[in-house]
Amino acid sequence: MAQNIEDKICKLRDEIRRNDVLYYVQNAPQLSDQQYDALFAELKQLEQEHPELITPDSPTQRVSERPVDGFETVAHSIPMLSIDNTYNEAELRKFDERVAKGLESAGYDYTVEPKIDGLAVSLRYEKGRLVRAATRGDGSRGDDVTGNIRTIGAIPLTLESEDIPDILEVRGEVYMPKKAFTKLNQLRTDAGEPEFANPRNAAAGSLKLLDARITATRKLAFFAYSVGQASTPLAQTHYEALGKLKRFGLPVNTATKAKDIDKVIAMCHLQEKTKDSLDYQIDGMVIKVNRYDQHDLLGTTGRAPKWCIAYKFAAEQAETILESITVQVGKNGTLTPVANLKPVQLAGTTVKRATLHNFDQLARLDVRCGDTVIIEKAGEIIPQVVEVIIKKRDLFESQPFEIPTACPACGGQVQKDEDGVYLRCVNPNCTAQLKERLEYFVGKGQMNIDKLGPALIEQLVETKLVKTFADIYTLRFDQLAQLQNPPALAIRRGPRHSQCRRPVRPDPGR
Ligand code: IVH
Repeated sequence: MAQNIEDKICKLRDEIRRNDVLYYVQNAPQLSDQQYDALFAELKQLEQEHPELITPDSPTQRVSERPVDGFETVAHSIPMLSIDNTYNEAELRKFDERVAKGLESAGYDYTVEPKIDGLAVSLRYEKGRLVRAATRGDGSRGDDVTGNIRTIGAIPLTLESEDIPDILEVRGEVYMPKKAFTKLNQLRTDAGEPEFANPRNAAAGSLKLLDARITATRKLAFFAYSVGQASTPLAQTHYEALGKLKRFGLPVNTATKAKDIDKVIAMCHLQEKTKDSLDYQIDGMVIKVNRYDQHDLLGTTGRAPKWCIAYKFAAEQAETILESITVQVGKNGTLTPVANLKPVQLAGTTVKRATLHNFDQLARLDVRCGDTVIIEKAGEIIPQVVEVIIKKRDLFESQPFEIPTACPACGGQVQKDEDGVYLRCVNPNCTAQLKERLEYFVGKGQMNIDKLGPALIEQLVETKLVKTFADIYTLRFDQLAQLQNPPALAIRRGPRHSQCRRPVRPDPGR
């Protein structure tokens, strides 16, 4: 009987793993979500009845129920290097000339892959089992994020194949698909929490959470793109190695072989044109010499290999109308002009605001309300206004923006800082500064106070219930209940456990 149950559990696990690979790696699911969930529920039920049969690599054991205090740092067996960047065709050709010279004109070819905009991780498999996952960190040492990595459904806990090296380090990029990013930011806005600036920050923030149960809800995904330590060589070329990783059950992005630099350049241009149709953000292409023996011949420069280069896409631009300029007061009193824009699509997101950095920049560009402006996202960070289209300006209506002579929030005195670039409010009792300081203080990296977001801080400061950090700790239930928009004051009955189903299955778009 016991043997029967054990067999049944093994079969269910294999079936779930097989379907994970079909779903995440082959992009060819054979089961509906319902059928998959039914398999999962059956396995969970059997494991609950026979807890002695639970193994750490069971698909039900992805999410740890206990948060960690912090991450240990771990040494990488082989350093995780970064890549040098190029921004145009001429620089790509120069790279090719260096490769040709380094290889003394021996024949060589390239692989061309999308450059995923996420964060690099190294996954260590021993005898096919995932034993450790670490971030890149400084390249020599990274954070041990195994618990969080295990929640990513696209990352197999066990590899399936006969010829897996006993030790295999798989390197790749953890990313957040665009749809998941938009949804997450919507949830954060609704909860009064600050939005993530881009999918990369969202992926990094989600992978560095101390509570893996939250990471599991963040719908992270993964692409493998190279091999670190391997106890037996996987292949003789990078292209072949990618094929093997895919066969082992890891998600691998499309890589194209290119026989020369002309083909590489054509691939880069083609992908640049079509990148917005992808469900994930890419910020360029990665070009690698294909043969491993040629990697060794070319070597590295210390921080980056000479056999690899990134081609970064040009910063994306869009034209829109600047509707107004708001002056934000930072936590140290710095006044920053922010452009409020007619919403416009840029690099896959709707942009409503752009930074103008400081008042010198504003004066240099001579930006005025009502202007038609060009905005740019360089590296997909916060967009900035880079140009005003003067010929579209209404010369009769347009007025230069007046640089504030007092703090727009408290009316306090303002001063230029020492190097004369930034304007600061010097009123120590400025409520705008207090709100910013409080937001920082309660944030994730600091006190990490759950549910105390900007909307609640706003009310607490305006009603003068909070004037200092210390006031947060003496707030009473009745004071909070009397606020115009009181927070949810339900009494917690212990942590809510997320249902243990396939944790981060991205929307298959059905
Ligand atoms: S190869 C030694 N391939 O880009 C080369 N990197 O800007 C190892 N990245 O740190 C990296 N997509 O995090 C490689 N297809 C790809 C990539 C890729 C994204 C990231 C990676 C790297 C960064 C450098």
